[in-house]
Amino acid sequence: QPSKMWSGRFREPLNKTFEEWQRSFPFDWRLLPQEVAASKAHARVIAAAGILTDAELATMLDGLDKVLAQTTLTPAVVASAPEAEDIHHFTELQLTRIIGDLALKLHTGRSRNEQIVTDMRLFVRDAIDATLAGLREWRKALIDLAENAGEAVMPSYTHLQRAEPVLVAHWLLTYVSQLERDSSRLVDARKRMNLCPLGSGAIAGATLALDRTIAAKALGFDGPTPNSMDATSDRDFALEFTQALTTLGIHISRFAEELTLYSTAEFGFLDLPEAFSTGSSAMPQKKNPDLTELIRGKSGRLLGAATTLATLIKGLPLAYNKDLQEGQEPVFDAADTIAGMLSVLPAFTASLKFRFDRMKLAAETGYLNAMAAATYLSNKGVPFRKAHEIIGNAVRLGLETGRELDQLTLEELRQLGPEFDQDFYASITLEATLDCHDVVGGTARHRVRQALADARKRLEAE
Ligand code: ARG
Repeated sequence: QPSKMWSGRFREPLNKTFEEWQRSFPFDWRLLPQEVAASKAHARVIAAAGILTDAELATMLDGLDKVLAQTTLTPAVVASAPEAEDIHHFTELQLTRIIGDLALKLHTGRSRNEQIVTDMRLFVRDAIDATLAGLREWRKALIDLAENAGEAVMPSYTHLQRAEPVLVAHWLLTYVSQLERDSSRLVDARKRMNLCPLGSGAIAGATLALDRTIAAKALGFDGPTPNSMDATSDRDFALEFTQALTTLGIHISRFAEELTLYSTAEFGFLDLPEAFSTGSSAMPQKKNPDLTELIRGKSGRLLGAATTLATLIKGLPLAYNKDLQEGQEPVFDAADTIAGMLSVLPAFTASLKFRFDRMKLAAETGYLNAMAAATYLSNKGVPFRKAHEIIGNAVRLGLETGRELDQLTLEELRQLGPEFDQDFYASITLEATLDCHDVVGGTARHRVRQALADARKRLEAE
């Protein structure tokens, strides 16, 4: 067997440095399971087309299973197989070692251009499934945490300035909503990519009358791709995967940032779980939020992968170009990065202990009930713009005398506006301030209870 898959027309050997440099096996070895699965599917297709006898097909399938079972690919093993140009070549070499020359029939009616894109689709599909499973687990941890928070209250912030009190559960459910959208983007991308490129050949379609539905079915695709040039040159599925992960990464990063911030002494909203924190080699008192910092940092790699892919693809003429080989590593890196994040986030989230007393105190100071107070006046018939002005004056009085709104006397308030009455005080308690947001999506306690139940129902329905 010649050492190359394509050496027939060449007279001169490859430049050694170039040969080594252009290989993809140092990273595409990860595609061995996909390559074997796709090769088995292709073997069935060519057997159905009469290229292989039943006995040959059985030998070939068995041989391919052995290739997978007998090869433990590690970077070291890969380095010791310098003759393999890529995963396709490697698999063919291994199969030849196991079943002999029959292996050379496997490449009948196919091209590496369709193989690599099939392997990559299978890889991305698995990565999507793994990500969705991880996201479910994390969502469950967030929903459990929200439920355990009960009616605990915290300040919400706009401009990072205290805004209005919200339920801790309401805050946590924000992330649940984000993750639901992220999951649906992945589900959506999965549907769109789930077509089988096998049978597309190098560019124009296989040169044998193959039944492409056999391979599609064997590999769990919904059917064959409709255009051979598109199938061999398209990397939308990889781009979409990394773009969906980019958005997910942005959400994860915001979560990480908030927890990093809230764990500072200045906020003091939570004690970092020791099992997920690290110390300082220099400052003995330190407990550092390395987990959330690394999460925040690693999320950048996801955007990096999407950017690499978009830049790679944008200038390519149809159809296959070797540039596309560069599209594999960003996909692997993105898949590894998200898998790593989701391996720690659920347990980290489950172990979070909030300091509800500190959160409540922060929610009770700083006039977070001012909007509820203005609403009180507007309910008494004062136009909101005017009510806003009056409460603004009340806040100013409070600031000048070191008191919250509920500590101002009725006489003082009446000097600002005659509409104030004794019932004002009941309308600006913490509970009333929460419950006046009684709309779908609001932080009124019964609305949040409902939202929590709905979120759990959606999780369980998935
Ligand atoms: N290693 C190649 C890649 O990743 C496989 C396809 C090679 N095709 C070719 N025409 N040279 O893109």
